[in-house]
Amino acid sequence: MSVRIMGTGSALPKKCVSNEELAQLVDTSDEWIRERTGIGSRHISTGETVVSLAAEACCKALENAGRKGEEVALLLVATCTPEDALPCAACQVQDRIGAAKAVAYDLNAACAGFLFAVHTAWAYLEAGIYDNALIAGAEVLSKIVDWNDRGTCILFGDGAGAVYLERCEEARGGILSFVQHSDGGRGAVLSCAGREQENPYFHGEHRHPYVQMDGREVFSFAVRQVPEAVREALAKAGREVKDVDLFVLHQANRRIIEGIAKRLSADMERFPMNLERVGNTSSAAVPLLLDELNRQGRLRQGMTLVLSGFGAGLTYGACVLQW
Ligand code: UT7
Repeated sequence: MSVRIMGTGSALPKKCVSNEELAQLVDTSDEWIRERTGIGSRHISTGETVVSLAAEACCKALENAGRKGEEVALLLVATCTPEDALPCAACQVQDRIGAAKAVAYDLNAACAGFLFAVHTAWAYLEAGIYDNALIAGAEVLSKIVDWNDRGTCILFGDGAGAVYLERCEEARGGILSFVQHSDGGRGAVLSCAGREQENPYFHGEHRHPYVQMDGREVFSFAVRQVPEAVREALAKAGREVKDVDLFVLHQANRRIIEGIAKRLSADMERFPMNLERVGNTSSAAVPLLLDELNRQGRLRQGMTLVLSGFGAGLTYGACVLQW
C-alpha cells in the first residue's frame, strides 16, 4: 500500500505587480529586491479570495487526476489568511467544487501549512480512515501585509496550489517519509495580530494588525533548520541527499534556498524556483511550484522529490516522496 499524489493544480490572481510598481509605493528598487530576494514580480488580488483561488486550484488538481469533486473523501485547506472566521475556507471550497461527501476543514501552520496538511492527510490514508484527500495551500497575504513597510511588502504574493492524494495498492513509491517541527518559543520573529479582544466587559490593547517580521532571524532559522529537517526525512526514507532529483522548497528568498543547498552540499540545478514570478505565497508556494513542474513535464515517474516548508510559528517540515 502507498499514498500517491495523483494530480496537481494551481491558481494565481490576474494582476501581476512588478518591483518597479512597488517602488512607486515604498522607498525601494528593482535592483535591491532582486539582489536580496530573487523576486521580480508577484500576483496581488484584485478581488480573488482564498476560497476562489483554492477552489480553482482544487478543480485543476482533480481534473489532472481524472477525478470528480463528489469522489473526494477529505478536503483540507492550509491557510493563514482566510476571509472568514466562520465557516472555514475548506467548507466553502467544498461547496464550490461539489465535494459533498468530503470532510472539510482548515489548518494553519503558516508557510509550512501545506506540508503539515499533506502529513495529516497521509496519516488518515495510511490508517485506512479515508481513501483519498484533496489538499490546497491558499493565501491572500496582500490583506495582512503592511503596504507602508518595505521590509515585508516586497516579499509576499497571493495564490493557491493543490494536490490530490490517493491510497494505492502498489507497495512501492508515493510518500516515503515525513518530519514536522514547531518552535513556539521563537514565534515573535514573524507575527500578525488577529481580531481585537473586545466585548462589553473587556477592551484589549490595540495590536498591530499587519505582518511584523525580523527578517534576519527568519532567514537564519530557515537556513539552519531546513537542512536538518531534510536530512531527518531522508534518513527516515532510507535515502541520501545524492538520491534526490528535485528539492521543492518553500519559495521565500533565493538566498535562503542557496544557503540550504550549500548546507546540504547539493547543486543548485536540483532546486527549481518560481519566486522570481510569484514571490513568497506562504502555504501556496510548495504546491504552486509542484504544479508548474508537473505541467512542464519535469516530474518523471520514479523521481525522488523532497518537499519542505518553513515559516511563522515557527514551523517547519519536510517530506520525501517517489513520484
Ligand atoms: O515565509 C517566511 C517569510 N519570511 C522570510 O522569508 C524572510 C526571510 N528574510 C529575508 O528574506 C531578508 O531578511 C529580507 C529580504 C527581508 C531583508 O534582507 P536583508 O539582507 O536581511 O536586509 P536587512 O533587513 O538587514 O536590511 C538591510 C538594509 C537596511 O538598511 P540599513 O539599515 O542598512 O540602512 C534596510 O532598511 O536594507 C534596507 N531595506 C531595504 N532597502 C530597499 C530593507 N528593505 C528594503 C527594501 N528596499 N525593500
